Amino acid sequence: MEGPRSPNEAELPHVLEFLNQKLRNEAPWSIAAEYPTAFNRNNLHNMRIIADEGKVLSHAVLKPLIIKSPHVIFKVGAIGSVVTHDEHRGQGLSTQIVKDCLKMATEQSCDIAILWTDLFDFYRRMGFELAGNEVSFVIEEEFEANNEGLRFSTDPRVSPDAIYRLYSSHSINSVRTIEETKKFLSIPQTKVYTAWESNGQLAAYAIEGKGIDLGGYLHEWGGSVSKLMALFSFIRMQKGQPVTVICPRHATNLIQQLEKLPVTKNHGFLGMIKLVNFDQLSAKIKRAFRAEGVADIVLEKHPTQYVFGIGTDLYTINKETDMVRLLFGPVDYRAMDMFKPETLDKLEKILPLPLWIWGWDSI
Ligand SMILES: CC(C)(COP(=O)(O)OP(=O)(O)OC[C@H]1O[C@@H](n2cnc3c(N)ncnc32)[C@H](O)[C@@H]1OP(=O)(O)O)[C@@H](O)C(=O)NCCC(=O)NCCS
Repeated sequence: MEGPRSPNEAELPHVLEFLNQKLRNEAPWSIAAEYPTAFNRNNLHNMRIIADEGKVLSHAVLKPLIIKSPHVIFKVGAIGSVVTHDEHRGQGLSTQIVKDCLKMATEQSCDIAILWTDLFDFYRRMGFELAGNEVSFVIEEEFEANNEGLRFSTDPRVSPDAIYRLYSSHSINSVRTIEETKKFLSIPQTKVYTAWESNGQLAAYAIEGKGIDLGGYLHEWGGSVSKLMALFSFIRMQKGQPVTVICPRHATNLIQQLEKLPVTKNHGFLGMIKLVNFDQLSAKIKRAFRAEGVADIVLEKHPTQYVFGIGTDLYTINKETDMVRLLFGPVDYRAMDMFKPETLDKLEKILPLPLWIWGWDSI
């Protein structure tokens, strides 16, 4: 048995065949079409396999993302397609491979690693914890919205440039190219809904579905709040059934509008997160505090604990996973009775960090 190692170019079709068999058994497309930025030659060095006599036994892939936010530019290592051959499970192969992905993430200067799963306990053993915020709204019924003179379309042949222009106006997003946007647009089972101004300019877009995942979920969208509400009204009518909008918590204006509708609102987590370069992340956070005029922020890692607070109002945190929640949420500092009111006022200038990853970037 050899690995974890990256596959060479000649092995890539083999690895994809293994993944398609294990993870996309009933899909007529390749998993590479669903995650076009993770499974391509440029990211081969971030794929990891354990193989035996030419046979793939276990796999995971790391896709580093640069996420821009108002205070901090994060580097995030997304980990996905973790799978072990049925006959080789329970031998520690996935644990080895995920740990190797974490090592790569550390070496490539990621601040954190993130993954999306329902095997919470499996990943908790490796130090991941559910963290970050996501708000979703199930639009239960059709609703009227001012259509703003827009023309709506479900034609998937939309110029990636137009989508990219609206995507770029988000306050928190990953660095993407137009070429990548083009690849995302052709992911199987992706529906593209658009709203157009009378002058032919794209006013809003929303993306539903992504391969076998996210059917019925609008996981990416862009445009002003009023144009998006008009587009959502069109989508709900088109579908004839409830549709769910996934939102970052910082999209407060859109959230306010959605809350006025007959919706079911759910609070969720962004994903399972693990710190991989605490000192680097801490330096970024301290810089963000200093830019807000808070010079005496303390965020330090000691051999067995973290020290966190402002000035002399400090708190000791023993578990890394508690630190993850304090930094990325969900957390209500005021309800925790940890800090003095003046410390809370300062902490809340930056924390919890409003990290967000749009649906096309999840792997
Ligand atoms: C989940 C999976 C990747 C684990 O692979 P593996 O190589 O068997 O993992 P390891 O041997 O490193 O670890 C197995 C350990 O995890 C535990 N484990 C497996 N599935 C688990 C689950 N759903 N919840 C909690 N623990 C789990 C096992 O009990 C075992 O524990 P033990 O070592 O105490 O006996 C494998 O079962 C698999 O390929 N499943 C199908 C694909 C899948 O669901 N992938 C996850 C996508 S996020």
